[in-house]
Amino acid sequence: MSSSQHPLPSPAPIFAAPKLMFFGDPHGDFRPIIAAVQRYRPEAIILLGDLQARQPLHIELQSIRELTQIWYIHGNHDTDTDADYDHLWGSELADRNLHGRVVEIAGYRVAGLGGVFRGKIWNPDEPEANAPFRSRADMLRHVTRGGTVEGPWRGGIARKHHSSIFLDEYEAMIGLEADVLVSHEAPAAAPGMRHNGFAAISELAASLGATLAVHGHHHRAIDYVHEGLMPASAPFRAFGVDMGSHLAWPLIEGRGPR
Ligand SMILES: [Fe+2]
Repeated sequence: MSSSQHPLPSPAPIFAAPKLMFFGDPHGDFRPIIAAVQRYRPEAIILLGDLQARQPLHIELQSIRELTQIWYIHGNHDTDTDADYDHLWGSELADRNLHGRVVEIAGYRVAGLGGVFRGKIWNPDEPEANAPFRSRADMLRHVTRGGTVEGPWRGGIARKHHSSIFLDEYEAMIGLEADVLVSHEAPAAAPGMRHNGFAAISELAASLGATLAVHGHHHRAIDYVHEGLMPASAPFRAFGVDMGSHLAWPLIEGRGPR
């Protein structure tokens, strides 16, 4: 019997496991993350904030802890309640928060900036001198002197502001080097484009020398170049990742966040 009568089956497509997978804000639902890790077996995953784990994070992700490296940044909603806070900062995975540092993950230097800009702390679109508090220590001094700004909580600053971006933490990242920036807040778009992003995030990505910036918070899958928010000649590619969705990296061109 010739092979023309019984053609050999075509070889199964070979897909390399992604190095990194970025996941949009879980808001307590980790099922899409667990399913994607079991399917794609990425070397590492990074959650882009607003985790709101209903149990300590290491318990939520118990089934994939041995399958991949787990990293994250926090979002604004991770300080909504004591449980939101404790299930993240009190978890066995608390040391996987990338906020304010650069960690080499799956061969990439990844910088993290968790949290959001709040005008009561620092609005980066205004002159720095207008920032009410440059640091957590500044705010704590104010609170312990009887200042009336939201707090104290557990002897420190208000719980809410554990997810605020302080100027000194941002400034400490200027001068670091990284391949990737993950943030909860979004970068700015090209002038004239309607988009709720911040030049401070774009400037941080550029200063790090990052070629990729990925954010959560907006609950939208955004490929900045594809949507005309940035030119293809921009120094870094930028993506937003929707809740329940992911972005795999290195990118397979034409397949953005999904
Ligand atoms: Fe958020």
